[in-house]
Amino acid sequence: MTAEERPVVLVAEELEPLVGDPPAWPSGARHRWLPADADLPVDDGVVGLVPLLSRTVGPREMDRLPRLRVVANYAVGYDNVDVAAAAERGVAVTNTPDVLTESTADLTWALLLAAARRLREGLELARSGEWEGWRPDLLLGRDLQGRTLGIVGAGRIGAAVARRAPGFGMRVAYWSRSQRADLERDLGAVRMDDLSELLAAADVVSLHLPLTAATEGILDRDALGAMKEGSVLVNTARGGLVETEALADALRDGPLAAAGLDVYRDEPEIPKALRELPGCFVLPHLGSATVRTRVDMWELAAENVRRVLRGDEPLTPVEPS
Ligand code: DGY
Repeated sequence: MTAEERPVVLVAEELEPLVGDPPAWPSGARHRWLPADADLPVDDGVVGLVPLLSRTVGPREMDRLPRLRVVANYAVGYDNVDVAAAAERGVAVTNTPDVLTESTADLTWALLLAAARRLREGLELARSGEWEGWRPDLLLGRDLQGRTLGIVGAGRIGAAVARRAPGFGMRVAYWSRSQRADLERDLGAVRMDDLSELLAAADVVSLHLPLTAATEGILDRDALGAMKEGSVLVNTARGGLVETEALADALRDGPLAAAGLDVYRDEPEIPKALRELPGCFVLPHLGSATVRTRVDMWELAAENVRRVLRGDEPLTPVEPS
């Protein structure tokens, strides 16, 4: 087999600083970086693909790679990959759960605290040089002690966020497809049957659902309107879960006091209203952004590729829903 005939594993070039020297792939496969802005090539040599969450991998893209065997998405969320289309083509899809759970839960709490305690306005005032000194009524925020944290989607990350709540004296309520007996036992968490019930009861709502056809826009105008007066919304899951305009209105006119956002529907665009509203603390999708987590995500994605190319089961497969 000449070098040109060897199969290829295409890896998002943005991963190069983390990966260092390209790894050796099984079956003599060659490593090739996929440039950030390039479309997927038409290439019958490509057997493995490691994309970022910002790259759509749908039927059109997969049809350009007729020998593709695995898409190892470099993210736990996989709404950028058409898993059903992959299954039809015999292509395995994998994601990176577990390794990013704790770092994402930490970032969720950073946003929660920042939003509840008005850190954006505090930072802007401190940096402006116009602070006129301590005042009893300056930038008063919300207390967390004794309040209810509402978890929407109690999977791995939602549960890890919930487990941090007792440290801040918060009660936990959750709305989720499956019952979490562990959270009920360990934290006294209360499961709510309806999302609207949770939204009406929680002082802080934190979103941890995957983005699917069923969850897109789940926090629409009605749902946001059903939230408690003065409550806080945190989203480190996917921007498409929330209707942007309705969120901006709920921050401007109530019932929301504040929001902490890490994700947006059309990233990297952050809607102007959300960037400008003082009660909205925005970050550029940093949920899993720690050195160790990002290296672990790479190692898991790479191991999934290796396994599929060797004919073994991947560690973290994703099934069509
Ligand atoms: C994921 O992995 O889906 C996260 O959004 C990355 O931070």
